[in-house]
Amino acid sequence: MTSKIPPANGKISIAPSILSADLWQLGEEVRRVENAGADWLHVDIMDGHFVPNLSFGPALVRSLKGKTNLPLDVHLMVEHPAQFIKPFAQAGADLLTIHLEAQDDVCETFQQIRALGVKTGVSIKPDTDVAALKPVLEQVDLILVMSVYPGFGGQSFLPCSPERIKQVRQLITASQRNIWLEVDGGINAQTAPQVIAAGADALVAGNAIFSAKDPAGALNQIRQAS
Ligand code: DX5
Ligand code: ZN
Repeated sequence: MTSKIPPANGKISIAPSILSADLWQLGEEVRRVENAGADWLHVDIMDGHFVPNLSFGPALVRSLKGKTNLPLDVHLMVEHPAQFIKPFAQAGADLLTIHLEAQDDVCETFQQIRALGVKTGVSIKPDTDVAALKPVLEQVDLILVMSVYPGFGGQSFLPCSPERIKQVRQLITASQRNIWLEVDGGINAQTAPQVIAAGADALVAGNAIFSAKDPAGALNQIRQAS
């Protein structure tokens, strides 16, 4: 399997989260954001343990593969991600992001992801110390900083986030590795400027894009924040 996620290239990439899509017409919703100029599609997977909510499984990822050209950015908010790596990779995930706070051995899980030809991501919740990322920097293609407590779309951006994003950007620069810095939660035209100024180059946005009458306009407003 080869991943469609390109190496970080200094450009801002936007990943609409289908958690906020109208699931009755998911195919049409995905086509709408793809035509509007989205870069990736963010798929939030929740297990009811790691976060107090349930969402999708590998079957949903499989149903998207081949129907859209957008790379599939799969965010695993699950307590035991290791058992789900192969099913999601086979279903067509281009990037698999696991949480540093998950119960499984994260280093082993990254190796498993890599071995399947999928890009690796690591995410931290708002209360996790940024320094805890240091031991895994060599193993990841992307760091996902949560700017809300994970579990639900449509929450407000946490004001502590820009400082944390800056610290992650410093870690990435010091590592001399080409690592994406993605931010997830409460991103819209008002919050995007501070997120980009702090050093993010990939932005997840659910509500701001799927609830917009004009998704292309919403994407441009977020992108122009740079
Ligand atoms: C939250 C999810 C997010 C969420 C973002 O747990 O990881 O991806 O869908 O939605 P908005 O942009 O509405 O905060
Ligand atoms: Zn997410």
